[in-house]
Amino acid sequence: MASRRQLLTNTAAMLGAASSGMWLPAHAQNAKVRIGLMLPYTGTFTQLGVAIDNGFRMALQEAGGKVGGREVEFFKVDDESEPSKGVENANKLVQRDKVDVLIGTVHSGVQMGIHKVARETGVLNIIPNAGMHAATRALCAPNVFRTSFTNSQPTLALGKVMVDKGHKKAVWITWKYAAGDESGEGFKEGYVAAGGTIVKELGLPFPNVEFQALLTEIASIKPDAVACFFSGGGASKFIRDYAAAGLAGKIPLYGSGFLTEGLLDDELAPSAQGIMTTLHYSTSLATKRNDAFRLAYAKTFKMQPDVYAVQGYDAGQLLLQGAAAVHGDFSNKKALYAAMENAVIDSPRGKWTMSKAHNPVQDIYLRTVKGKENVVLGVAAKALSDSGVGCKLG
Ligand code: BEZ
Repeated sequence: MASRRQLLTNTAAMLGAASSGMWLPAHAQNAKVRIGLMLPYTGTFTQLGVAIDNGFRMALQEAGGKVGGREVEFFKVDDESEPSKGVENANKLVQRDKVDVLIGTVHSGVQMGIHKVARETGVLNIIPNAGMHAATRALCAPNVFRTSFTNSQPTLALGKVMVDKGHKKAVWITWKYAAGDESGEGFKEGYVAAGGTIVKELGLPFPNVEFQALLTEIASIKPDAVACFFSGGGASKFIRDYAAAGLAGKIPLYGSGFLTEGLLDDELAPSAQGIMTTLHYSTSLATKRNDAFRLAYAKTFKMQPDVYAVQGYDAGQLLLQGAAAVHGDFSNKKALYAAMENAVIDSPRGKWTMSKAHNPVQDIYLRTVKGKENVVLGVAAKALSDSGVGCKLG
């Protein structure tokens, strides 16, 4: 029988090895990594949720289907982009399914619910889209990382582009919820600093698409240009209604790139020609990394990727890098988070790093719709970092 001293020595050695991530007990090595996907699989953001899911799984497949050397098991919840069910849905994954990591979500209002659960339980959360400021500002948390953007990041550089084109009086229009309001904040900051004036701010509740009365108002105001935030099915409807109201070609339309992202099919493209947007990705980026990604994605899913697919793919890459550093031991949080904080993500959008508040530091591209593509015209903001104001990490 082992002596008490021997037992203590063995235990200390085991604990040391486990915390350095070099060793895992057999039951943990054999256990699958439990991955929760909380995304919209129905509603106006369905396209976004599906693309994120695709991109995330593709990153894992390219790495052999394992995370930190362990097999994976997926758990899925359709969050329906419904903020009132955010906490309940997040708890289905965290409390019921006991996931090691929660990947989600798209809608900033739903993200509030996930964020509450992530902060209370300490579960690792990777945000593959929702840009709500608080997640990487005042309410930032050691276990919450984002692979997408803050809502004001894509629109910050849009205003200067418009003023440089002589559009000094603009109408801002959006869905009235966190993403629309915070995109508007970014737009206002850049536009006013460049010498522009927002003559009217218009809004409608998410996911309402009854744009007619607001378009009539825009026609009567006659601004130099219109800037907006819409995404998914609602963005497609807005572009079609804008053209049908006779405004396309008369009052130039600008937006954060979500407006045209992943939507330019035969039906929509004619109404979208010339729309200018700013975003951290375009399928037209001429790099080997992007070409390889597009090819692999098209082969696997029989469709073109978009920014949402890239954000999901990068969520997968971030998780893989973190898990590799701790050899699949998710209980070694200190080393896991350090590896994720220091990760360099070789993304189809271009290489990016994590800010201290856990949000991408990334280039923002100026794009215009030509044919069925968002063609890149240049870099509107280089290595743009969100302010992270109020975040006490790092
Ligand atoms: C958001 O709710 O944060 C969001 C949704 C779609 C595109 C961009 C942001």
